[in-house]
Amino acid sequence: MAFIWTVLLLLQHLVLTHLFAVSGYSHHLNHSLLTDKAALLAFRKTLILDPNFRLANWVEAVDVCNFTGVRCDKHHHRIAQLNLSNYELTGPLSPIISNLTGLRVLNLVENYFFGLIPPELSSLRHLRHLQLDLNHLDGSLPESFALLSKLTLISLRGNNMKGELPPSFFSNCTSLENVDLSRNFFTGNIPEEIGNCPDLWTINLYNNQFTGELPVSLTNISFSLYNIDVEYNHLSGELPANIVGNLPSLSLLHLSYNHMVSHNNNTNLEPFFTALGNCTDLEELELAGMGLRGSLPSSIGQLSAKLFLLCCKKTRSMDQSLQI
Ligand SMILES: *[C@@H]1O[C@H](CO)[C@@H](O)[C@H](O)[C@H]1NC(C)=O
Ligand SMILES: *[C@@H]1O[C@H](CO)[C@@H](O)[C@H](O)[C@H]1NC(C)=O
Ligand SMILES: *[C@@H]1O[C@H](CO)[C@@H](O)[C@H](O)[C@H]1NC(C)=O
Ligand SMILES: *[C@@H]1O[C@H](CO)[C@@H](O)[C@H](O)[C@H]1NC(C)=O
Ligand SMILES: *[C@@H]1O[C@H](CO)[C@@H](O)[C@H](O)[C@H]1NC(C)=O
Ligand SMILES: *[C@@H]1O[C@H](CO)[C@@H](O)[C@H](O)[C@H]1NC(C)=O
Ligand SMILES: *[C@@H]1O[C@H](CO)[C@@H](O)[C@H](O)[C@H]1NC(C)=O
Ligand SMILES: *[C@@H]1O[C@H](CO)[C@@H](O)[C@H](O)[C@H]1NC(C)=O
Repeated sequence: MAFIWTVLLLLQHLVLTHLFAVSGYSHHLNHSLLTDKAALLAFRKTLILDPNFRLANWVEAVDVCNFTGVRCDKHHHRIAQLNLSNYELTGPLSPIISNLTGLRVLNLVENYFFGLIPPELSSLRHLRHLQLDLNHLDGSLPESFALLSKLTLISLRGNNMKGELPPSFFSNCTSLENVDLSRNFFTGNIPEEIGNCPDLWTINLYNNQFTGELPVSLTNISFSLYNIDVEYNHLSGELPANIVGNLPSLSLLHLSYNHMVSHNNNTNLEPFFTALGNCTDLEELELAGMGLRGSLPSSIGQLSAKLFLLCCKKTRSMDQSLQI
């Protein structure tokens, strides 16, 4: 009898150690990590193609924290990062991702995800980086993303996104530092609300169909704003002297290929270049393709010593009368 008990205990021990070995962090496993795993397994099923078998270890037997592209937080309670960048995955961007509510980084850059960006992703309240560049996503930026108040980085460059930017997205952006919506088909004005984002550092909106003027509220971000790139849109109005004059940290200003004009019906470049004198760190200024006209002020000699690229990509010599 004692012998049988020993065997049974031994068996129990073996079964338990086996279980613990299979699920590496099982002493920490709780509901959240189990539901995260269920969500990822379900997400994998929504994929149409994984030609390089990058997600081959996304199976029940593997600890979810060991899934390729997955990083759990340091206590292994939740999945904190999902980075499937450049895996050549094809499929709809499934709303199942929104079940990973512990995510801080979602990086699906350079894949073939298509369809809408699910509004449900607004459940990812801890999300700091949302990177969906270089996919085939379409539709508009979900209004619900106003709830993603911890975002520091949103980049959707190189998709087929369209429609207007919801002003509400910029009403809850106290952490936002980096916005890259370039190479899409967004239309409408750049919302004035963008001036609500006090830590905004870089704004890339080039290659879209934005209209209207550059929002004056950008002057509200005076101490952080480093880069504005709005090239290849349909922006109009006067060169934004009032804005740049109040952005002392501005280093990169790319305005080329819009419909802006200089002061006094495109005859006077002086106010703009005078204002640029306040951008003491200015390194790049691009004003090509707009037919800008006017005399250059003598203050042009006082522009930032670091400035190495002035205006036109096809360099014209800087004589007194400029046509860009
Ligand atoms: C998961 O476990 C950790 C500690 O082990 C705990 O802090 C956390 O709240 C748990 N989460 C849930 C949803 O039970
Ligand atoms: C996602 O979360 C919802 C709501 O909590 C739940 O009903 C659903 O089963 C989850 N889906 C997956 C695939 O885990
Ligand atoms: C998970 O990865 C760790 C470290 O690479 C390894 O020690 C462990 O055995 C793996 N666990 C599973 C279940 O694959
Ligand atoms: C995501 O993965 C790519 C390559 O796999 C790597 O270059 C990049 O640094 C990763 N990003 C993050 C946030 O981990
Ligand atoms: C801002 O984000 C917080 C946290 O997600 C949310 O509770 C709040 O409703 C949001 N405000 C707006 C105006 O969307
Ligand atoms: C800009 O700042 C001023 C005062 O600091 C504030 O009244 C205004 O609402 C802000 N505008 C935007 C669009 O953030
Ligand atoms: C340049 O900065 C000065 C000092 O901050 C300010 O008074 C002036 O209005 C600025 N110039 C322009 C054109 O905004
Ligand atoms: C501005 O200039 C254009 C041609 O350069 C001219 O046709 C137009 O009448 C001018 N407008 C005003 C308000 O002077």
